[in-house]
Amino acid sequence: MRKKLLLGNWKMNKTPSEAKAFALAASEMVDYAVAHNIEVGVAPTFVSLAAVKENINPKCIVAAQNVNEHDHGAFTGEVSIAMLKEVGIDWVILGHSERREYNGETSPVCNLKIKALLAADMTPVYCCGESLDTFEKGQTKEWVSKQIREGFAGLSAEDAKKVVIAYEPIWAIGTGKSASKETAEDTISFIRGVLRELYGETAEEIRILYGGSVKPANVAEYMSEPDIDGALVGGASLEPDSFKGLIEGMLK
Ligand code: 13P
Repeated sequence: MRKKLLLGNWKMNKTPSEAKAFALAASEMVDYAVAHNIEVGVAPTFVSLAAVKENINPKCIVAAQNVNEHDHGAFTGEVSIAMLKEVGIDWVILGHSERREYNGETSPVCNLKIKALLAADMTPVYCCGESLDTFEKGQTKEWVSKQIREGFAGLSAEDAKKVVIAYEPIWAIGTGKSASKETAEDTISFIRGVLRELYGETAEEIRILYGGSVKPANVAEYMSEPDIDGALVGGASLEPDSFKGLIEGMLK
């Protein structure tokens, strides 16, 4: 049985003091989610990770939005796994479409990062998803299949089941134009099919989230689909009330 997961990706929002305020406000709702068998987490920017980790309910996952695949060295502006671990972070989002677009993060680079994280007993959240053009040309499946195969290259089934996947169609991110639950399920069940081809029965243990304009009002629709195990949420994860609404929506 795959556990439901709600992850808030704060992107480049909230200063450390704002992030801390959210952390302090979230204590009860994290208990509520966990009591109802939902795992929850937030992904602040690097400079807010320590403040959030120190002030949030310890049952809440705190994830970074990126990590470098090298141990240390001359990589100006980058953050290593050891640095994250020292502030208590063990989840990292990788391959978000914004990082793919603005920071040249490719699937093969994500593959190196996934391997480095798994070697450090950390949990990668690997994002995939197609542009509007690819969607309209009917090439979504081909596109995400490549992203999944490249991201998971060389991973054993034992490793693969520790990775969380987030399917986020780029045209649905921050646009208010969410994918229908049928479209999301169609692609996510396809992704599970690719995983089945690669890993057999282990595919049933890998969690796949939907992301793209998820709100308290529509999260229940996605959760009603058999292959969708949770949500990666941007805008609607930023305020405690809305985050609580997402948790409640997931329980409907
Ligand atoms: P929105 O929920 O703001 O559409 O963002 C989705 C996303 O990119 C989460 O990673």
